[in-house]
Amino acid sequence: MPRIVVQDVFFEAVEEAGILPIIDGISFDLVDNEFVCILGPSGCGKSTLLKIIAGLREPSSGSVIHDGFVSDPPRLGMMFQEPTLLPWRTVTQNLSLPLELLKVDKVERRSRVKRWIEIVGLEGFEQYYPQGLSGGMAQRVALARSLIHEPDYLLFDEPFGALDALTREQMADELLQVWSERKKGIIMVTHSISEAILLSDKILILSARPARILKTIHNPFPRPRLADIRYSTEFLAIAKEIRDVLDDKQAVTAH
Ligand SMILES: Nc1ncnc2c1ncn2[C@@H]1O[C@H](COP(=O)(O)OP(=O)(O)OP(=O)(O)O)[C@@H](O)[C@H]1O
Ligand SMILES: [Mg+2]
Repeated sequence: MPRIVVQDVFFEAVEEAGILPIIDGISFDLVDNEFVCILGPSGCGKSTLLKIIAGLREPSSGSVIHDGFVSDPPRLGMMFQEPTLLPWRTVTQNLSLPLELLKVDKVERRSRVKRWIEIVGLEGFEQYYPQGLSGGMAQRVALARSLIHEPDYLLFDEPFGALDALTREQMADELLQVWSERKKGIIMVTHSISEAILLSDKILILSARPARILKTIHNPFPRPRLADIRYSTEFLAIAKEIRDVLDDKQAVTAH
């Protein structure tokens, strides 16, 4: 059974000038521990779609079904373009927050925070405040924070968008590592075609606003994937195929 079913979701914003259609009938499933990437032009409605899936926004019509229920989504991990760490809390205290909210006891909190600090390689920085961290380190804390409470699945909105290209590749490799060890369903919005091919099982390519799915690509690369596949001929061919759809060269035939 699919974990998440997005069913014919439409979203319209009501503005003074009239009704602005933003999402134009999107349907897809997330099955088990699938990794779904969403690519689309800037401003097409990707963040809006993610918020609807998270239950933070009501669709104008259509529905999102989580494990068979149209109610509040189960436990989510979220990660945004900016790390959104609390500046007055240290790395340890930021990581501990989702566990405090779930009333996990202190001993368990300590041990989980220690484990996640190790997983994301931040030993020695436990007592640092976010302003003392590099962008990549802060995103590593955010990645650990999104996973520390063992969410049912994860929603990532361009989590590496603010990082430089090299750190971004390292973070993508790290995410692949973490994900392959403890598989979770993930829906991730990204602007990076190569990130989408490296990480995903399935790629949804969205049109310009109002967003609809132009094409779904089932990722042919077997797992485990090495970061080096980025430079293979097959990889470049799929990247080109995605680029062409985004550039609208195939949009007419892709419906
Ligand atoms: N409640 C709302 N009222 C009015 N306009 C809205 C509302 N929500 C979203 N929009 C508009 O919808 C469009 C899509 O916004 P959204 O943030 O979902 O795009 P996006 O695909 O995530 O863009 P980006 O890639 O730049 O992050 C934008 O033009 C935004 O201004
Ligand atoms: Mg966005």
